[in-house]
Amino acid sequence: LFLLFSTTWNTIPPVFFTYEGHRTMGTQKQQTRGLFITLEGVEGSGKSTQIRHLAEVLTQAGYRVLQTREPGGTATAEAIRHILLTAVSHEPVTPQAEALLILAARCQHVTHLIMPALRRGTLVLCDRFSDSTFAYQGFARGLDLQWLRAANEVATGGLTPDLTLVLDLPVSVGLARRRADRGQQNRLDRETERFHRKVRRGFLALAAEEPGRMTIVNANRPAQEVRDDLTEIVVGWLARPRRPPRRRS
Ligand code: TMP
Repeated sequence: LFLLFSTTWNTIPPVFFTYEGHRTMGTQKQQTRGLFITLEGVEGSGKSTQIRHLAEVLTQAGYRVLQTREPGGTATAEAIRHILLTAVSHEPVTPQAEALLILAARCQHVTHLIMPALRRGTLVLCDRFSDSTFAYQGFARGLDLQWLRAANEVATGGLTPDLTLVLDLPVSVGLARRRADRGQQNRLDRETERFHRKVRRGFLALAAEEPGRMTIVNANRPAQEVRDDLTEIVVGWLARPRRPPRRRS
């Protein structure tokens, strides 16, 4: 049970696999068997609480679930997360360095944790993924989106979530929640409200581009309502005809 609910690199299988996608620098679409669901949203949107609940519901329904997060999920990616979220005042991280670090973390995460799990037929639930890079480093930091998409393709080997839920709420509400939750804020939390508004607009624009994959969920409601809504969406989506992920025996 612990393994199911924690982001942990000791779940990495001892054998590191290879697959076509990486040999071709991400140009070949990766074949997976499990399903890949991501949760996205601005700071304070409640993703972490909601993803825990979803993992619980889906595990109880008989799915083999891996819950993980970005940046992070493997030892190397978690070390990169630490660098990213800890400000060093005398050496600001440039937007380009930030993007490259995030993509390096993603590459490790996809290679050593996500793809092996998907190949085993596991349902992977990930707190943030590529859409965060497009929203934060693209829309908010102003890096070129085409470049980001191409670099992200290299990092992921072409892996795209099957379903993405965007928890949406006004930035002022999210930031206030975050301040109340955590005494200390990380380097990105401390960005201006204007920055976070651009992030939110980014997520909404991305969702408008890909309505088939991305669903916006109103997170400016009591957690229980958001929880029920998310469960209904995911359960309904899983019930759609497709080859289901392998269930636990
Ligand atoms: P969180 O775990 O609180 O969501 O924090 C992760 C931070 O990293 C959050 O501020 C968003 C940021 N981030 C990016 O800027 N780009 C990315 O691609 C990802 C995955 C996260």
